[in-house]
Amino acid sequence: MARKPETDLIGAGRKPRAAVKLPNPPVERASTVLIERAEDLYDGDRKVYGRFGLGSQDALCDALCALYEGASWCGLTPSGLSACTLSIQALCKTGDHVLMTDSAYGPTRSFALEELSRQGVEVEFYDPRISDGIAELIRDNTALIYLESPGSLTLDVQDVPAICAAAKARGVATLIDDTWSAGLLYDAFALGCDVAIQAATKYPSGHSDVLLGAILTMEADLGARIGNTLRRYGVTADSDSCYLALRGLRTLPARMRQHEASGLAAAEFLQRQPGVTRVIHPGLAGNRDHEIWKRDFNGASGLFAFELAGGRDTANRFLNALNLFGLGFSWGGFESLAIVCNPQIRRAVTPWDGDGQLIRLSIGLENAGDLIADLEQALAAAKDT
Ligand SMILES: Cc1ncc(COP(=O)(O)O)c(C=O)c1O
Repeated sequence: MARKPETDLIGAGRKPRAAVKLPNPPVERASTVLIERAEDLYDGDRKVYGRFGLGSQDALCDALCALYEGASWCGLTPSGLSACTLSIQALCKTGDHVLMTDSAYGPTRSFALEELSRQGVEVEFYDPRISDGIAELIRDNTALIYLESPGSLTLDVQDVPAICAAAKARGVATLIDDTWSAGLLYDAFALGCDVAIQAATKYPSGHSDVLLGAILTMEADLGARIGNTLRRYGVTADSDSCYLALRGLRTLPARMRQHEASGLAAAEFLQRQPGVTRVIHPGLAGNRDHEIWKRDFNGASGLFAFELAGGRDTANRFLNALNLFGLGFSWGGFESLAIVCNPQIRRAVTPWDGDGQLIRLSIGLENAGDLIADLEQALAAAKDT
């Protein structure tokens, strides 16, 4: 008896194609993975379910391990924030003490304050410029030190080798959110970090249409512990986002060169403007953290900040007058963005020392001269009339 169409349609079009060679791997979308033989259903070495990662996830992890030289383990999460929070979660338990930089990304900080504290983990913030002074804060129950360098609002560059050396001497794990570097401008592992975290949402994806996080380590034990936590919480990154991030990585170095050059040009322009009281860009000679940046980084991204004299009204006039910069909270995309930071700066041990309005710019891939002209006219519009 002939099979009915509803039966045929279930398997139609599934015939494996002859291989064609493409520059990018195909996107594999699936929850179900079909197993050929019943004997293999519980074979722990096989991918038996979509949540454990398919071709797109594996390809992106391979590429990220190539970017982070020496990385032996890579885990993917559905956002940069979940990469930050779950890697911390995996490495501490009730009764532990966690040291976190006072310049940490706000939602990571909230996670520590609200979630870790609720679990009986004591969180202590430290001065991002503490350097080897961190040794005095390490206790017998310190489980990890969480770094972010440069901080994504105030751009504080940390003395990562000094902090990591002090941590290693006491057997404490170090985790760094190095999203600013895109994984390209900084060798987190060579500088002593155990775990590197990228909000792949930003530069690696690069096109403002993906939310994704990546966690990398050279330490098999740490990879296993973080991987177990991701698996137990059921954390997965979707195949399409992984494909897009992998595609973004192809052009990352070329994009970063442009972000750096245009960012420095805009920062230098702003430094000369009356009304701009300070430019915070570690790549600029004379900036507070320039020497550490020069020692540890091999380039700059396009994210920096400057202080505009005046109040929030002045900042709003400036932002509203911009034509080429969008107003938006993310960064690392092809388009330039701006925000005023003051309402979201939180500090526990190092009060923010700025006295104007801190404006953060993410310099995109537009022509640098056009961007500078836009900044110039917006500064003029911001002046009190
Ligand atoms: C430094 C830093 N880390 C992590 C994140 C979180 O990334 P996502 O937006 O993908 O959750 C951000 C987002 O702005 C960030 O700036």
